[in-house]
Amino acid sequence: MKDKIIDLLKNSNNEFVSGEEISKHLGVTRAAIWKHINALKESGYKIESVSKKGYRLIGCPDILTYEEIKEHLTTKFIGRNIIHFDNLDSTNTYAKSIADTLVGEGHAIITEKQLNGRGRLGRQWISQNSKGIWMSLILRPELDIFEVSKVTQVAAAAVNMAFRDIGVESKIKWPNDIIINDKKVCGILTEMNSEINIINYIVVGIGINVNNDLDDFSSEISDIATSIKIESKKYIKRNELVAKIFNNFEILYNDFVDKKFSTALNICKDNSYVLNKDINIIKNGEVTSAKAIDINERGELVVKYENGSIDKVLSGEVSVRIKKN
Ligand code: BTN
Repeated sequence: MKDKIIDLLKNSNNEFVSGEEISKHLGVTRAAIWKHINALKESGYKIESVSKKGYRLIGCPDILTYEEIKEHLTTKFIGRNIIHFDNLDSTNTYAKSIADTLVGEGHAIITEKQLNGRGRLGRQWISQNSKGIWMSLILRPELDIFEVSKVTQVAAAAVNMAFRDIGVESKIKWPNDIIINDKKVCGILTEMNSEINIINYIVVGIGINVNNDLDDFSSEISDIATSIKIESKKYIKRNELVAKIFNNFEILYNDFVDKKFSTALNICKDNSYVLNKDINIIKNGEVTSAKAIDINERGELVVKYENGSIDKVLSGEVSVRIKKN
């Protein structure tokens, strides 16, 4: 009901809409409308109420509900069902807990704050304020299990393209980080539920530091982490950015399930932060030096060791660090 009221107010060209008109349109009493308007005001909508004139929308809150995102969406199925929370432990954990109860794919779980955000390799992901984007998509591609790790790169390519759409250049650090000016602004955590050879669902979690300020980063991470706002000196409309990620993701994901992973792969290669650089590969605490020379069609990082031998690295359990000169 609240979303229908917001739609009516948004479509009124800044004119007042009377309580009577809204109640007739939606088939509920004026008292019910009044209650919903109050609830909307509480969630941050600025609504002017003038007796004998009705209601007028003056401002919308910076929240990542479907209501605030949909006007920028061009997708058919990605992000067409958004489940929004003010607080959640982790959008990935929640997505996994409800995936079996939902039909189809493209459902998005978005929260303003995460209390227990999770990163790759069991790390913590700090996401306790509403200045970022913390979200997960539920997907059900009909693919072989070995292809799942490529979804991370499809998502990374979509985020990179969406940043470009809002005028922000970034690099993709294989396999799952987005980098601006040598610091991380976004991480991606892909998780899967499968039978022996059948994917039940995949959850792609995307965390982006968007409008965070310098003092939002502790001294331990301020050397390696940043936000789009810090780097671009622009306040970013999070709802537009989420929509642009979904729009780009749907195009790249459709290609991917159509056996055209190359569309996303080329974006990852063209905007790579690691290719042609000397890197350290860290696996189970062991560090190996190599040069990153390619990302192949299986989504593996192709590296050349100092002794000249060539190897392929799968994203699963490794960390990649660029070697400083
Ligand atoms: C990483 O770089 O280690 C991956 C970070 C992924 C963070 C996102 S935020 C939304 C989703 N929910 C989580 O708990 N994690 C992912």
